[in-house]
Amino acid sequence: MKAIFERRSVRDFVKVPVSDKLIHYLIKTAMNAPNAGHQRPWEFVVVRDEKVLKSLSEMAGYENDYNNVDASIVVCINKSRLQWDGYWQMDTGTAVENMMIAATNEGYGTLWLEVFPVEEKITITQEILSLPDDVIPMMVMPIGKSRSDVEREPVFIDSQIHYNQWESKLQDDKK
Ligand SMILES: Cc1cc2nc3c(=O)[nH]c(=O)nc-3n(C[C@H](O)[C@H](O)[C@H](O)COP(=O)(O)O)c2cc1C
Repeated sequence: MKAIFERRSVRDFVKVPVSDKLIHYLIKTAMNAPNAGHQRPWEFVVVRDEKVLKSLSEMAGYENDYNNVDASIVVCINKSRLQWDGYWQMDTGTAVENMMIAATNEGYGTLWLEVFPVEEKITITQEILSLPDDVIPMMVMPIGKSRSDVEREPVFIDSQIHYNQWESKLQDDKK
């Protein structure tokens, strides 16, 4: 699947129109992600308002305006919906990854801007979006186009694969 290998974190966005249809589609892919006990603890805040996007950039604390995009999606966890505590961080990851791969496949770039686990960022984001106390903002995902190709070091590292046991005699024999 090409999109998995082509996805990159975009930090130099070109602002392009992002349709409601695309946003809806991306959230649909997130809601189809595997999640612990099928608890589906997600909430998605779609942000298009320029002032709110700017506030989210300031929250992230970077010089770059990563939210200089047509739309960002803030992924949150609704703690009141949790049936199985201790899994919701993973539930966030599966949902976000689906959206990022799907966005890449549609020709868009994304970035994972951290909110969780930084207490200060959580509080500021809750304030910006007027979230209830039990809704925890986890990350912000701007959606746009990358100005240029993003270079990245090789990520496939053979020595990080282990067969049957940490020290694999079988594999050592092959070397
Ligand atoms: C949990 C998590 C938090 C991240 N937080 C940030 C962030 O706050 N700012 C940022 O620029 N990138 C952030 N990233 C993106 C990573 O830096 C990026 O995925 C990594 O460098 C690999 O590059 P790639 O996404 O292009 O493959 C985060 C990624 C994850 C999964």
